[in-house]
Amino acid sequence: MASHTFKLNSEQITVEAEDDVRLLWVLRDLLGVTGPKYGCGLGVCHACTSHINGKAFSPCSVPVSKIAPDDEITTIEGLPATVGNDLHPMQEAWLDLDVAQCGYCRPGQIMAAVAKVRQAAADGREIEDRVLDEIRNICRCGSYTLIREAIKEGAKNM
Ligand code: FES
Ligand code: FES
Repeated sequence: MASHTFKLNSEQITVEAEDDVRLLWVLRDLLGVTGPKYGCGLGVCHACTSHINGKAFSPCSVPVSKIAPDDEITTIEGLPATVGNDLHPMQEAWLDLDVAQCGYCRPGQIMAAVAKVRQAAADGREIEDRVLDEIRNICRCGSYTLIREAIKEGAKNM
């Protein structure tokens, strides 16, 4: 068992885990951070999408030993604090448009959306359908139309 230190939702944490344990299990099972959901465990469904240093990634596909002490992991639980509010504008948009059906994909969708909007802004691209085509998060309830509307709405307030 090894010690792993990194920043999680603005707090420096240290956790004991085998090197090859995937970060998703460290978050969920050892640290009780259950916003990132388990879908496939293979980096395909993106239900677990969180941010590493502000970029979207799949913690189910990264061994905890690959996370460096100065890496900053943000999960849906830590997203509101990044804007200093109770909810991030993308979360507000999800609620305003009543997007969720079962809601299982929601944390991953919102984290992917926020990262995509930030990246598009940095690249000088508009939030339009061809940009949103790059988000590959699966919604088993098929709420894709509403998800796109919410991302466009949320992006206006970011
Ligand atoms: S659970 Fe991580 S991508 Fe599917
Ligand atoms: S709302 Fe059910 S999986 Fe997306």
